[in-house]
Amino acid sequence: MRPLALVTGASSGIGFEIAAQLSARGYDILGVGASGRIGSLEEKLREAADDDAPVGTVVPVRADLRTAEGVAQVWESFESLDRHLDVAVLNAGKSLGGSFVDTDLEDELELLELNITGQIRLAKRVVRTMASQRAGRILITASLSALTPTPYESIYGPTRAFTYAFAQGLREEMKEYGVSVTALLPGATATDFHHTAGMDNTVFGSNEWKNDPAEVARQGVDALFAGKDHVIGGNRATRRAALLNRVLPETAKARRFAKDSRPSRSGHAG
Ligand SMILES: NC(=O)c1ccc[n+]([C@@H]2O[C@H](COP(=O)([O-])OP(=O)(O)OC[C@H]3O[C@@H](n4cnc5c(N)ncnc54)[C@H](OP(=O)(O)O)[C@@H]3O)[C@@H](O)[C@H]2O)c1
Repeated sequence: MRPLALVTGASSGIGFEIAAQLSARGYDILGVGASGRIGSLEEKLREAADDDAPVGTVVPVRADLRTAEGVAQVWESFESLDRHLDVAVLNAGKSLGGSFVDTDLEDELELLELNITGQIRLAKRVVRTMASQRAGRILITASLSALTPTPYESIYGPTRAFTYAFAQGLREEMKEYGVSVTALLPGATATDFHHTAGMDNTVFGSNEWKNDPAEVARQGVDALFAGKDHVIGGNRATRRAALLNRVLPETAKARRFAKDSRPSRSGHAG
């Protein structure tokens, strides 16, 4: 039997590419997405596969990971398979662009539900299962934004800082169970992400200059199997930006980030 990988956010972007790479490495995929497009995951994985490469079992789950019910639904789908969980990729996430003066509080609280609360709820299930198996590999998508203030995405960046720190702490705890935890820190990547965040009128809004999601996914999957603590996802410019984020003062990083995240037609309500 092929090993099994759970991948959240598998319907598009980085998560889809991670699912495709795991499928190519012989994994069955339990893929989670919020919208109906997760229903075409198997078809998309077949299209992405090399001609003679087999695609194994693909189980799509449409669930809202912001809610306890959504996470429970994912877990019921996993348990109904009665399988070992070899790999878990906690990747689903969103951002919300705009000045904090203007952005909607409810939208921001929902962002926390997806990027933090839902992540913890699912991680609890994954970690307990892998601890009892005494084996498993976990990949958690954080962001380069974990290493810098993120003006005009002022709630998003701190959620990814949480994710990165969570992954690093969990990694140490899980060693004794033979479970590895790896954080993927992509730089800006050409997916639906910034459009969904309402950031079309920012430098981040254009996908032309951004990293290729397939390349970012490959770096994440390679690091996962190498058992690394983290990997920067992206090209040389992204890796250079990561280095700068380690040395520049927070004020300078905030100014740099704002150049790419500030809406060009900003104007706050009221
Ligand atoms: N793109 C970047 O520049 C960038 C940079 C650094 C880090 N990241 C991180 O990479 C991860 C993936 O982002 P991406 O760039 O691949 O974006 P994306 O293409 O927009 O993909 C987001 C994925 O998350 C799923 N999702 C959204 N809300 C959900 C919910 N409530 N419940 C369950 N699933 C939900 C989406 O499902 P539906 O399609 O069905 O809605 C989709 O599969 C995120 O955690 C993000 O923080 C992205």
